Amino acid sequence: MSSASSEMSSQPLLRVEGLRTWFPIKKGILRRTVGHVRAVDGVDLLLESGKTTALVGESGCGKTTVGRSILRLIEPSGGSVFFNGQDLLALNPGAETVTV
Ligand SMILES: Nc1ncnc2c1ncn2[C@@H]1O[C@H](COP(=O)(O)OP(=O)(O)OP(=O)(O)O)[C@@H](O)[C@H]1O
Ligand SMILES: [Mg+2]
Repeated sequence: MSSASSEMSSQPLLRVEGLRTWFPIKKGILRRTVGHVRAVDGVDLLLESGKTTALVGESGCGKTTVGRSILRLIEPSGGSVFFNGQDLLALNPGAETVTV
């Protein structure tokens, strides 16, 4: 993680802005969406290269969902995630590499 490129650049390693992940609540035989669990709703985060950030909060406040959304293991509903200046949410499924 301590590559020369990330240490020399002035940009943060990770920049998260307005991250939002809502889970639909579906009901009835037709499984219609009747509402949303707003698990993550407007999270900003800045992580400098070589630094550690802890995400702390009560059970169910959305810590795991934040992590999974940053990695796109869950597709976020909105916001932006920049890793080394690269917009991860703009990458299409065929994108092969993330520059570190
Ligand atoms: N796949 C899902 N579908 C619907 N709701 C979900 C899903 N995953 C998480 N949630 C809900 O989103 C909210 C945040 O959950 P999350 O697991 O991110 O919390 P957490 O802070 O990691 O909790 P813990 O400290 O217990 O690990 C909770 O209300 C949870 O029930
Ligand atoms: Mg968790």
